[in-house]
Amino acid sequence: MAEEFQGLWGGRFQKETDTLVRKFNDSLSFDKRLFFSDVEGSLAHSKMLSKQGIISEEDGKKIEEGLISIRDDVKSGKLLIEGDYEDIHSFVEAKLTERIGDAGKRLHTGRSRNDQVALDMRLFTRSEVVCVRGLLIELLDTILSIMKDNVETIMPGFTHLQKAQPITLSHHFGAYFEMFSRDCERLSSIYERMNYSPLGSGALAGTTYPLDRDMTAKELSFREPMRNSIDGVSDRDYLLEFLSALSIIMMHLSRLSEEIIIWNSDEYRFIELDDAYSTGSSIMPQKKNPDIAELVRGKTGRVYGAMMSLFTTMKAIPLAYDKDMQEDKEVFFDAIDTVKHCIVLTDGEIKTASFNKDRMKASAGGGFTNATDAADYLVKKGVPFRDAHGIIGRIILYAIENKKALDELTIEEYKGFSESFDNDIYEAIDLKNCVDQRKTIGAPGKEAMKKAIEQEEDFLSDAKKIQETLVGRSE
Ligand code: ARG
Repeated sequence: MAEEFQGLWGGRFQKETDTLVRKFNDSLSFDKRLFFSDVEGSLAHSKMLSKQGIISEEDGKKIEEGLISIRDDVKSGKLLIEGDYEDIHSFVEAKLTERIGDAGKRLHTGRSRNDQVALDMRLFTRSEVVCVRGLLIELLDTILSIMKDNVETIMPGFTHLQKAQPITLSHHFGAYFEMFSRDCERLSSIYERMNYSPLGSGALAGTTYPLDRDMTAKELSFREPMRNSIDGVSDRDYLLEFLSALSIIMMHLSRLSEEIIIWNSDEYRFIELDDAYSTGSSIMPQKKNPDIAELVRGKTGRVYGAMMSLFTTMKAIPLAYDKDMQEDKEVFFDAIDTVKHCIVLTDGEIKTASFNKDRMKASAGGGFTNATDAADYLVKKGVPFRDAHGIIGRIILYAIENKKALDELTIEEYKGFSESFDNDIYEAIDLKNCVDQRKTIGAPGKEAMKKAIEQEEDFLSDAKKIQETLVGRSE
């Protein structure tokens, strides 16, 4: 058989692989995304091989120079990742051998593609975890500035999508800050848990060469080598954790998008999306559609799909490596791209949106959102809460029949329902007071929100410091 058909494993074969089999089996078209990780891993491996005397220093040097020249050429576009190669590992090794001859064939000493791909995926994923975390921090920055600007922007809070109690826009966005800050922390903890090196696991059972696994782990900024070589080549837990975290991020983005869609509707008009973040209709000239929010909501499904896909792939794979695991790539890459786009676009969308504060306040005034406060008023006057609830319920029925808001009823009308009412009822049900009286931790009142904003500021500045060290470590 011709040398070029032998690829990485042709020695024991007498026939060429069937064309369809090759197509089905090859992964270069998608695992080329691992190119930089593959080169990085190989540089560390060859450095260690030569330090350990497993290959000569001279070969080590040639390999290093060869790998760097390949990397430079791919970066500059001089070398395209294409051709008849099974995967990115074969591509790099073939190019290296083309450039430096026999020394290139020595790179794979003491290594298997099983620990190589395990390493590449880990290096790639580690930097993506950091990248997604960085994007979340930018989104959190935007949310925090909306919070700061809107401590006094009154709006209705909803349950069952029915107006419930008055809150502020700051408080509402505060809930999203919490969600995305948890996402951020989830990514940090995934990073710590995944940051171990599989390199040196070999095919599954380590190797007889005196590899220095501590050295390669350190070289690649991992905490330590993985402790079991079977686990080293077969563990994809960190991908599942990351996909789970990405799914939760999408769920959060989708809830926010859903609210943006509702708020942007003609009926609500709480929000006006910037022209740059909206699209029109080919037939209805008046339309300005929230397509970005709808797409973010829509794309959530495909990220959940990626997570389910990999869970299903992994569930019955006998130890150690099986080719099923090649299926960890396409859906995973797609999920990462999708989530990154969705975070960036949502960030831009809310950053450029304008909030219709008058409309929000009017809406909060219109739906008896201060009814609970009216009941609490009676409680303060000594009426038991259950009775107060009943009295206010009857007043609301009366107000609906007479098409009035609670603050539009006269004191005589109030007194007709209970003698406990006085003129101070108007102050008690004033929306601003209703909000500001909510002073407990986590509540929308101005005092509570000021504290919350301070805490979020601290969280963000810590998160940014951690980000710097993570970026530094995974570079
Ligand atoms: N393309 C393979 C993957 O993504 C690389 C590992 C191949 N290992 C092997 N023994 N065939 O999993």
